[in-house]
Amino acid sequence: MKNKDWFTEWFNTPYYHILYKDRNDEDAQVFMKNITEFLVLPKSTHILDLPCGKGRHAVFLNSLGYKVTGGDLAENSINNAKKFENERLTFKVHDMRKPFNNKYDAVFNLFTSFGYFDDDKEDLLILKNIKKGLRKNGYFVFDFLNASFVKDTLVSEETKIVDDITFYIKREIKDGFICKNISFFADDKQHTFTEKVKYLDSTKLTNYFTKVGFTITNIFGDYHLNEFDIKTSNRLIIVAK
Ligand SMILES: C[S@@+](CC[C@H](N)C(=O)[O-])C[C@H]1O[C@@H](n2cnc3c(N)ncnc32)[C@H](O)[C@@H]1O
Repeated sequence: MKNKDWFTEWFNTPYYHILYKDRNDEDAQVFMKNITEFLVLPKSTHILDLPCGKGRHAVFLNSLGYKVTGGDLAENSINNAKKFENERLTFKVHDMRKPFNNKYDAVFNLFTSFGYFDDDKEDLLILKNIKKGLRKNGYFVFDFLNASFVKDTLVSEETKIVDDITFYIKREIKDGFICKNISFFADDKQHTFTEKVKYLDSTKLTNYFTKVGFTITNIFGDYHLNEFDIKTSNRLIIVAK
């Protein structure tokens, strides 16, 4: 039997949520406020947050008045997010390599939720699915890391203690992937996971977008929507139609 992909396993564990529990929700909210204002999205907009994790962006977008659907492969995250459901906020398990049944006014892919697959064809397949899932003139907001900035600022070893678990983290860029090896002892067991995100720079990503027929309207470099600068920006945010 084929081993499960790393992203299917790791994101579905409680340890992933423990390690990243200090991830900044305030940043997420500032970004959602800035981008919805910038795009002048009316409250009637139906946004697909894909993948949504436990729904931190989706819940906030809904609180701004939007109708939001969140989809993610991790069942545990979706079960958690379902607690926040209302008639304008729904969550479902969805693999973004599969097409959607619905059409949306906007699709948001946030916080480095791309580049997990070895084969470029799968990256393109996701972008094609998103394009097909958008209504005419709908917006796609894509929030990825700035690969060049990651390379220049890479911290190769780090130890983090969260909730009494000591996480030993090693980072390297290898075979076209930014790899983060995470090992720790918890619940009487030694665990090791490796996050692997493809080294996709702005040139490769913009080529992907053009290839599937998107028109790029803006490129930003952070959650305050400052201009993208390959040397100094911590994010690469592409807005496309
Ligand atoms: C870095 S997390 C970000 C989640 C969320 N956007 C956030 O900011 O909290 C990446 C997410 O991608 C999901 N994921 C990975 N592969 C997926 C796939 N093929 N289809 C749908 N979701 C996937 C994981 O389960 C995980 O929740």
